[in-house]
Amino acid sequence: MNHLSNGRMKRVPEPELIFTKSKKGRVGANIPTCSTPAVDLSEAIGDLREDLHLPEVSELDTIRHFTNLSQINYGIETGFYPLGSCTMKYNPKINEATARLAGFANLHPMQPVETIPGALELLLGVQEMLQEITGFDNITLQPLAGAHGEMTCLMLIKAYHESRGEGETRKVVLVPDSAHGTNPASAARCGYSVKSIPTDANGNTDLEALEKALDSNVAALMLTNPSTLGLFEPNIEKICRMVHEAGGQVFCDGANMNAMVGTTRPGDHGFDCMHLNLHKTFSTPHGGGGPGCGAIGLQAHLEPFLPVPVIRRGSEGEVMADYSRHHSIGRVSAFYGQFLMEVRAFTYLRAYGKEKMADISRYSVLNANYVRARLKDVLPPAHDRPCMHECILTAEKYKKEHGIRALDISKRLIDYGFHPPTNYFPLIVPECLMIEPTETETKETLDMFCDAMIAICHEAIENPDALHHAPSTAMVGRLDETLAVKQLDVRWIPAAKETAGV
Ligand SMILES: Cc1ncc(COP(=O)(O)O)c(C=O)c1O
Repeated sequence: MNHLSNGRMKRVPEPELIFTKSKKGRVGANIPTCSTPAVDLSEAIGDLREDLHLPEVSELDTIRHFTNLSQINYGIETGFYPLGSCTMKYNPKINEATARLAGFANLHPMQPVETIPGALELLLGVQEMLQEITGFDNITLQPLAGAHGEMTCLMLIKAYHESRGEGETRKVVLVPDSAHGTNPASAARCGYSVKSIPTDANGNTDLEALEKALDSNVAALMLTNPSTLGLFEPNIEKICRMVHEAGGQVFCDGANMNAMVGTTRPGDHGFDCMHLNLHKTFSTPHGGGGPGCGAIGLQAHLEPFLPVPVIRRGSEGEVMADYSRHHSIGRVSAFYGQFLMEVRAFTYLRAYGKEKMADISRYSVLNANYVRARLKDVLPPAHDRPCMHECILTAEKYKKEHGIRALDISKRLIDYGFHPPTNYFPLIVPECLMIEPTETETKETLDMFCDAMIAICHEAIENPDALHHAPSTAMVGRLDETLAVKQLDVRWIPAAKETAGV
């Protein structure tokens, strides 16, 4: 660990670029001499070889370059990763072993369906297990991310209202002000206008405001439970009843299912549909933003609109991919979804088993409450009640009294060898730090993290500059994040071209 609060600041050096290691004519592969006559392509492709500036390096230099890069990457396998709302849980190695089995890995998505009964059985197996865990009547594994699952659910809801002749009137989707940004985005993408519902002083949905907003124009309420405040919504059944009485549907943002798996089922709470992030709750890799998997659960009245193919059992007990669905919303992804991610999720579900499934939610909730309790004197929780799988803390007092923001605390954490938690989300908590430890972390790791956070909070008072200038040990210091987003710079350009503005 890089515990450098004692003033020994040493920045990790930037690695040499592979382009600067290039030597003309050096090759990294031993390619056999080709018996086909050589063809001069220069007329067709011109100076492409030169223009591309491909590095010419030996095999060993290539291996060293990428191994070194992999070692400066921070991941769940190198350290604690408390990024809230993202459920950065450990992905057990057994998942990778099964996903690599030749019978799965070598399947081609265009193989005739009769040749893949085992793969279809596996997909159905995942569906059935998720059905049991969530309490919904049906599951589809088609959506490729959480946001994609949200959008697919809203498409089902839209098709449902249209089938009842209410498609033209129900044009509004209600979204709490604590929701993840993908919720309003999904609603807007489906052609809905979005109305924000406030959160009350206890962190729950403001029932009075909801009551006022409910009318015959409302298509749906999108509710995250547990909410992004890390709190279980105590009025969930009442809220579902209220929306149903107004003719609307209730979608559950299930990104926080890690707090409930094996313990309670959203399908029993009154929701009509929900999305799951398999890359969160069911341990498939996030993989640099993908490939994700956003399975959805739905009640029977939405089944006619399911995207195709519907994986189900046929009349003879065989598993089939059913495309003949007259009311289907159509395809939402190619083929059968992210098949190898389903293999990983299947492995995870079977490895835990029904009996141990509740350990996931119990330990994730326990760990979050432990962190919350250890940090409450230096970073007060946004709401004074036990949290679910993540705790939401506020650094507001450091901003007011010492000019230190949540971002400064997070950046300083990098100097202590930890990945920062999520900052400034949910938007309604000032100077918000959102910490999600997940269930697999030990008490010792949580203690090391909490010790670092407490030390940083003391520094915020005694030596605020250490936080303002953090990170001091990382390869790059404090970036201008707005500029970095607006002027993406992710490509190497040869110096000569850069000066010429190419
Ligand atoms: C509460 C919540 N909802 C939805 C999403 C969207 O999921 P995805 O990133 O897979 O699209 C996230 C992602 O972090 C989330 O935290």
